[in-house]
Amino acid sequence: MINRIQFPKTVLLITVFALSTILPVHSDEFSNKDLERWQQQFMNSVKAGRKLWTTPLGSNKVVCAQCHPNAANTHPETYPKFQKQIGKVVPLWEMINWCIRNPAEGQPLAADDQRMIDIQAYITYERRGVKLEPGKH
Ligand code: HEC
Repeated sequence: MINRIQFPKTVLLITVFALSTILPVHSDEFSNKDLERWQQQFMNSVKAGRKLWTTPLGSNKVVCAQCHPNAANTHPETYPKFQKQIGKVVPLWEMINWCIRNPAEGQPLAADDQRMIDIQAYITYERRGVKLEPGKH
């Protein structure tokens, strides 16, 4: 009796498994053209960030590149981390705003401001390949 009830279930499971290995998973499909387009979009953001790096973002003439040439000493791979200037664990963008507020004497950018995204794309691109070390000082 038990076998008779379970048999169709087993057959169903095997069929579903077999089909899942044969049928393509449509949601994961993308072409080389897609990859090229996405890479292009990303590099556009990096380039925009590079431009902002040498543009005054605050009320004085100070630019990020003056103290961080080629994004030096920005250490994006160490975020989130405790920052003593802010007094808590913060993501990278909060520290970017700290520098916009202080050395650049400007207004902080919203986390989803395109310029904030571009600056982060640029900083992290400069540090590509560097090992992630969140929290490190
Ligand atoms: C006058 C010099 C100066 C300028 C200009 C400046 N910074 Fe900084 N920046 C600092 C100092 C000082 C620190 C603090 C270092 C520390 O204690 O981690 C810092 C830290 C940072 C950090 C975190 C570094 C780390 O190791 O965690 C980031 C990110 C950063 N700055 C981004 C920027 C951006 C973006 C700009 C342009 C808006 C900018 N900075 C402009 C001096 C400057």
